[in-house]
Amino acid sequence: MNENEKRVLMVIFGGSGDLAHRKLYPALFELYLKGQLAEHFAVIGTARRPWTHDYFRETVAANLNVGTTVQQQAFVQHFYYQSHDVQDADHYIILKKLIDSLDQEYDLGGNRIFYMAMRPALFGTIAAHLKSEHLLSSAGYNRLIIEKPFGHDYQSALALNEAVISTFARDQVYRIDHYLGKEMIQNIPYLRFDNPVLAAVWNRDYIDNIQITLAERLGVEERGGYYETAGALRDMVQNHIMQIIAMLAMPKPNDFNDAAITAARREVFTHLHQYSAAEVPQKFIRGQYGPSTDGQALGYRQEDKIAPKSNVETFVAGEIRLDLPQWQGVPFYVRTGKRLPLKKTRIDIVFKAAAKNLFGAEKLAEPVLTIEVEPEMRLSWHLNTKEIGQSTAAIPRELVFTLPEREAAQVPDAYERLILDAINGRRSNFVSWQDMAGAWQFVDGIRQVWEQCQCPKFPNYASGTMGPLAAEELLQKTGRTWIFKD
Ligand SMILES: NC(=O)c1ccc[n+]([C@@H]2O[C@H](COP(=O)([O-])OP(=O)(O)OC[C@H]3O[C@@H](n4cnc5c(N)ncnc54)[C@H](OP(=O)(O)O)[C@@H]3O)[C@@H](O)[C@H]2O)c1
Repeated sequence: MNENEKRVLMVIFGGSGDLAHRKLYPALFELYLKGQLAEHFAVIGTARRPWTHDYFRETVAANLNVGTTVQQQAFVQHFYYQSHDVQDADHYIILKKLIDSLDQEYDLGGNRIFYMAMRPALFGTIAAHLKSEHLLSSAGYNRLIIEKPFGHDYQSALALNEAVISTFARDQVYRIDHYLGKEMIQNIPYLRFDNPVLAAVWNRDYIDNIQITLAERLGVEERGGYYETAGALRDMVQNHIMQIIAMLAMPKPNDFNDAAITAARREVFTHLHQYSAAEVPQKFIRGQYGPSTDGQALGYRQEDKIAPKSNVETFVAGEIRLDLPQWQGVPFYVRTGKRLPLKKTRIDIVFKAAAKNLFGAEKLAEPVLTIEVEPEMRLSWHLNTKEIGQSTAAIPRELVFTLPEREAAQVPDAYERLILDAINGRRSNFVSWQDMAGAWQFVDGIRQVWEQCQCPKFPNYASGTMGPLAAEELLQKTGRTWIFKD
């Protein structure tokens, strides 16, 4: 066994589903190609449909786009399929037999990861049966990876968490937020803490505001049924945007270990400023897309599985504040929406502008540090520089670092990184219960106010535009503007 090779059995509930095929199996294959998984691993996919092992292996192989056919075939031989209804206790007895036999056959030392890649309403049932039917190993480790959405609001998340921790210890639960596995999000602490010059100005004295944009070009596609129960606030703000804020705002961890990083992130989630009901409409706005102006793209209400009078938001913009001394007075402006002109995840750190330039000329542009997360991975600094020639004016210029194509190609997919973390028992890139709870409580406060009012009138932005006018006004009323414009 090479020194990187891990011993693990992964049981995937929802093994025939979209997430498993599009994300999990390709991520496991990358780990296989890199030698992190070799001989001592096995994967059991479970779902109700009556697939054979061979058919399952074919579906897994069909989603692998790298490696040779020989490598792909060798990899899929580690995959097994068990037809399994998670509500049927007897099925766990059959599953246990397969788990035990694979544990022996592959010499896995009892290391088990259970991955819940299915409807969250069933997570509690699965956790309870794993315990009652004795599927947890007593020899190696037992870990549980849980996908979003983790609950629907604070109360349902709490109930789900209690169901899960009645079977798994708190430190065996890995709540995934795949944004935490993205390369440029992982880069944030390095930028902040490994560059004394940036560390010195990363606070309220020098930063005017921070802007986070998660723009999606697509509409709800085939996820209409789910989206009608969620909306953009739950689907994007409660999790991904909150996690990005935590990376941007957490104090420097005392150490580079799980406990210290988790404690630093918790500081952010326990200091989210809760708005009063009267403040919410001033601080958070919502939108829903209508058809595109050329009529080519449907409006949200015309999409499959969407109620014709749906009031679900597909766009949110808002201002988040932190009750922490170093962030007092610094707004974190956030914006996310579907059917915007392009796909883009981007963070703009807007530093305070000097009142006037050295020679007393006009007000200067704010220096802006931009972190582009996707699709490009790019850092840029807008700095004020002298205009060339006899002029004494200052003009902003951009310094750009783009990850070279060759290096960008080596960047692991977020799922690959996070699955390896779970195998290694590294928890710092997963969401703790306290962070989850804090984010839900914040989001619930907005949701409850929104539920009192069927306003604004939807749809209020056309497909292919940057969202409703109210998103611009949110910043304009404070004399600011979104740095990123389409
Ligand atoms: N797809 C993504 O990119 C993505 C991204 C982030 C989060 N997620 C989350 O991940 C979860 C899975 O999403 P998905 O897109 O993969 O859904 P999906 O394609 O609908 O897959 C659901 C899976 O659950 C199985 N299943 C349903 N009821 C079952 C039961 N009673 N017993 C056993 N198996 C059952 C289905 O197979 P059978 O019908 O054969 O039982 C199928 O394998 C959801 O919570 C979703 O919100 C998905």
